[in-house]
Amino acid sequence: MGRYQEIYDRSINDPESFWAEAAAAVHWHKKWDKVLDDSNPPYYRWFPGAEINTCYNALDLHVENGRGDQAALIYDSPVTGNLKTFSYRELRDEVATFAGALARLGVEKGDRVVIYMPMVPQVVVAMLACARLGAVHSVVFGGFAANELAVRIDDAKPKLIISASCGIEVNRTIEYKPLLDEAIQLAKHDVEQCIILQRPEHTCDLIDDRDIEWNQAISGAEAHDCVPVAATDPLYILYTSGTTGEPKGVVRDNGGHVVALKWTMQNIYNTQPGDVYWAASDVGWVVGHSYIVYGPLFNGNTTVLYEGKPVGTPDPGAFWRVISEHKVKVMFTAPTAFRAIKKEDSQGKYIKHYDLSHFKTLFLAGERCDPDTLQWAENKLGVPVIDHWWQTETAWSICANCMGIEQLPVKQGSPTKPAPGMDVHVLDESGHDVESGKIGALVVKLPLPPGTFPTLWNAQQRFFDTYLAEYPGYYKTADAGYIDEHGYVFVMSRTDDIINVAGHRLSTGGIEEVLAAHPDVAECAVMGVADSLKGQIPVGLLVLNSGTERSNDEIIKEVIQMVREQIGPVAAFKKATVVKRLPKTRSGKILRGTMRKIADSEDYKMPATIDDPAILGEIAESLGEIGYGGK
Ligand code: COA
Ligand code: AMP
Repeated sequence: MGRYQEIYDRSINDPESFWAEAAAAVHWHKKWDKVLDDSNPPYYRWFPGAEINTCYNALDLHVENGRGDQAALIYDSPVTGNLKTFSYRELRDEVATFAGALARLGVEKGDRVVIYMPMVPQVVVAMLACARLGAVHSVVFGGFAANELAVRIDDAKPKLIISASCGIEVNRTIEYKPLLDEAIQLAKHDVEQCIILQRPEHTCDLIDDRDIEWNQAISGAEAHDCVPVAATDPLYILYTSGTTGEPKGVVRDNGGHVVALKWTMQNIYNTQPGDVYWAASDVGWVVGHSYIVYGPLFNGNTTVLYEGKPVGTPDPGAFWRVISEHKVKVMFTAPTAFRAIKKEDSQGKYIKHYDLSHFKTLFLAGERCDPDTLQWAENKLGVPVIDHWWQTETAWSICANCMGIEQLPVKQGSPTKPAPGMDVHVLDESGHDVESGKIGALVVKLPLPPGTFPTLWNAQQRFFDTYLAEYPGYYKTADAGYIDEHGYVFVMSRTDDIINVAGHRLSTGGIEEVLAAHPDVAECAVMGVADSLKGQIPVGLLVLNSGTERSNDEIIKEVIQMVREQIGPVAAFKKATVVKRLPKTRSGKILRGTMRKIADSEDYKMPATIDDPAILGEIAESLGEIGYGGK
């Protein structure tokens, strides 16, 4: 039996001793009463009775253990021309001072703090300062519009919001402040205080009695110590798309998160303290939380915070420049980033300009990794390219090739095998395991390992209904796939209406809600259509109210603008068409799956329950007009 199998089996057969061993590598203010509280299934808690501080484990511990002068964070920003390194000591001091500033403004353990910021070092300082105080941060991705921010404000009810004057995209500066002001106006929850970082690229006006400039907030603030919290207390809330426009607040607790993430840095990513690790994502996503901020710092790595893109900042050699300049050992990004590079530099010419001798492994996740991209990256970089599968809910891999345990042979299209702690099954509709090779619902047997979400913020019933009700005793991932005869897992598609756009998770239901609100739209459907760069993009089909006098083009322009304004540019909603009617089953269900197949030129069977087969021909024609289908 290989090392992976041995460790995996132990994690499943005796999870308590497995995770207790991992927990020994972590600093606790008080030890746990029990490793796992399984007294109230299907709800489980790790390390009840223990006290811990996440920020202490990320920073102070390393300073005390002699890593004070080692680089903790490298901020590399091609969009502003800034490059700055923070040692563990410097980062700890900045975080302690900012925590002091937050405390002076009344932020205490358990209070929520919303963070709406671009990729600047202050966002990391803000997150860790909240963790230092035991306050619960909720970071909102900058590409979301005011309305989405408002929804999150109303759910999290923050005591304070931390934001910045602007973000910088490749070709434009994005003013954050008007979005923040609008969100606060839209929200029902009263936001009394904001700390605003003024960036020199664009400064903004502050609102008297509400906004405090970052430097003013920290002026004279005293360094604040780490506040011990219960291992089961929340560290953060991260909102992710659900099947409606209402996002779900995924809760992360403190204890299990430190234990699991630190464990993954060595066992999955094969990094040792001191190694440079780079996750090219955004702090607004779970990848950013787990692997720009927390995981690498728990493990004493140097983490890279990159404010740029794979292409255009300034060229498709941007990633190789960062890897070579900072001696990155392990990199993590989404396949879409590599598709963007490949599109502009298919020969990989830019790679040859850089010394990548420190680079050992590339990890990809966030969407299904297409074999072309995997092969291209392997060939051009000459390092193992590892696909791994995970979700906002789990915070770390459900399946991975655990490079720190044993490198298993790569099978294209598969994120390899279940990670230790993840008892993955494929079930049929009646909840029975299917035979190998057969597609079904991918589920994980409870209890989920440490670091995964214990609940949804203020929505325990929704947590149960969404994830635990359908397959009793299992967590429903909402992905479908199969396990082959060698135990390799293949993740094929979502079973709900979530689509994956450039590695970002979006709800088509949420986009439909926006379209349906247009006064001329009687009915609509949104589906995720294949896109060679972004994986999928949303395409809208609109049925207009009869008697509408305005032109189709005008209405399409308006709905595109509405989605941009209400969800945000990140939705990448740019394609819609008007149709006479939508194909439905006799019971009235819109046949989105069939329409998607038409758009993607895939073969499809005429659904037996369709009420009027002729509609599909009309749909194919309309999709053809905007460049889809055609077979
Ligand atoms: N603030 C404001 N707007 C933002 C933003 C932010 N933080 N991030 C993205 N946007 C905007 C973009 O400017 C773009 O606007 P546009 O429609 O005016 O062009 C829109 O949101 C879509 O952004 P994005 O999905 O990033 O697409 P892109 O076309 O700008 O770039 C890639 C495509 C592939 C280069 C880019 O998505 C990428 O690097 N992705 C891989 C890494 C990653 O982030 N993965 C996430 C999970 S691991
Ligand atoms: P998010 O919560 O934004 O990280 O998105 C999680 C979803 O992205 C998963 O449920 C999958 O649908 C998809 N996903 C993430 N990683 C992979 C992967 N390696 N292979 C296939 N799909 C993936």
